[in-house]
Amino acid sequence: MAKLSSGYDMPLVGLGTWQAKPEEMEQVITTALQAGYRHIDTAFNYNNEESIGKSLKKWFAEGGKREDLFVTTKLPNFGNRPADVEKYLKLSLEKLGLDYVDMYLVHMPFSFVKDENSETQAKDAEGSFILDVQDPVEVWKEMEKLVKSGRARSIGLSNFNIDQVQRILNNSEIKPSNLQVELHAYMQQRPLRTFCAGHSIVVTAYSPLGSPGAKQHFQAKYNYSPDKFPDLLGHPVVKRIAEEHGKTTAQILIRHAVQAGVVVIPKSSNPERIKSNVDVFEFKLTDEQMQELDGLDQAEKGRIFDFRFFKGVEEHPEYPFKSEL
Ligand code: A2P
Repeated sequence: MAKLSSGYDMPLVGLGTWQAKPEEMEQVITTALQAGYRHIDTAFNYNNEESIGKSLKKWFAEGGKREDLFVTTKLPNFGNRPADVEKYLKLSLEKLGLDYVDMYLVHMPFSFVKDENSETQAKDAEGSFILDVQDPVEVWKEMEKLVKSGRARSIGLSNFNIDQVQRILNNSEIKPSNLQVELHAYMQQRPLRTFCAGHSIVVTAYSPLGSPGAKQHFQAKYNYSPDKFPDLLGHPVVKRIAEEHGKTTAQILIRHAVQAGVVVIPKSSNPERIKSNVDVFEFKLTDEQMQELDGLDQAEKGRIFDFRFFKGVEEHPEYPFKSEL
C-alpha cells in the first residue's frame, strides 16, 4: 500500500481501464476482483464507468465490501472549469453506483470547450477541439469542496508538470495527494518523482508497459500516428531479468515501479494477463537488477503521450510539456 497524505492507503497495483471496451468491462472487472485487485482506475472520459458500476454492484451483492475497494476517476478536460467540477463527479458516481470515490483527479491541466448536448469536447468547423482557458487553482478550490462534502476521499492531479503542481501546492488548503503521469522504463520521471517525494505526493504510473495497444487507437480516433511506441515488453534487458526470475516481462516492468514505491495501473482485458500483472509481490528484484532497469530511462525523450493528438493543444497556456517542444 502507498500511504496518502489524506490518511488513506492506496493499493500499489490497480487495474487500468483506458481503452477497455465497455462490452468486455463487466467480465474484466469480475476477473480482476477475483484475482485480488482492489484498486480500479477509470475516468469520465473512458466511457466505461457504467459497466464498471454494474460489476461492482454484483460484487457487493456477493459480499464484497466498499471499504476494501479503491476507485479512482477523473474530471474530464471538457469539464475542467470551476462550475462543472461537482457536476462531473456526481455524474461519475451515478454511473459507478457509488456514494464516494477514493481518488478524484483533475485529468489534464488544460481545458476544452464542451459540447452541451453530448458531454464531450465541442469541435470547430475543421473538426478541432476548441481551447478553453481556465485557472487550475480555481478548479482545485472546487476539488477541495468535494473532499469536504465526502464525495471524494482524496484528490489529486494528472498530467500536470512540476510548476503546475507547485502552483496548486502554493494555493491550496487540501494538498494533492496523488499525481498520475506517464511512467515506464523509458520515461522514469526522475525529477517529478523527487519533487513529489518532497511534497508527500504519491506518484501513479500510467502506461507502465509502454501502452503497446494504443497505436491503433490513435490512428483510428485522431488519425494521428505517433512514431514511438516502444517495445518495452521485448527489451533484451527486461527479457533477461524475466528469465532470471521465471516471470513475464510485464511482471518485471510492474515490479520495477512497485519496488520503488510507485503505484502502477497496467491495463489488460485478458484474464491470464490480468492475473499475472498483479502477481508481483512474491519476488524481489536485486539492487543490480533495479539499477539495470533504472538505466533504461530516456527521460523526456521516452515520452509517448504528448497530447498533440488534440490538434492545437500545444497553444494552450496550460499545455504541460512546452519545454519539450
Ligand atoms: P490486453 O488488454 O490484450 O492484455 P499499458 O497499461 O502500458 O497502457 O498497456 C496496456 C496494453 O498492454 C494493452 O494493450 C494490453 O493488452 C497489453 N498488456 C497488458 N498486460 C500485458 C502482459 N502481461 N503482457 C503483454 N501485454 C500486456
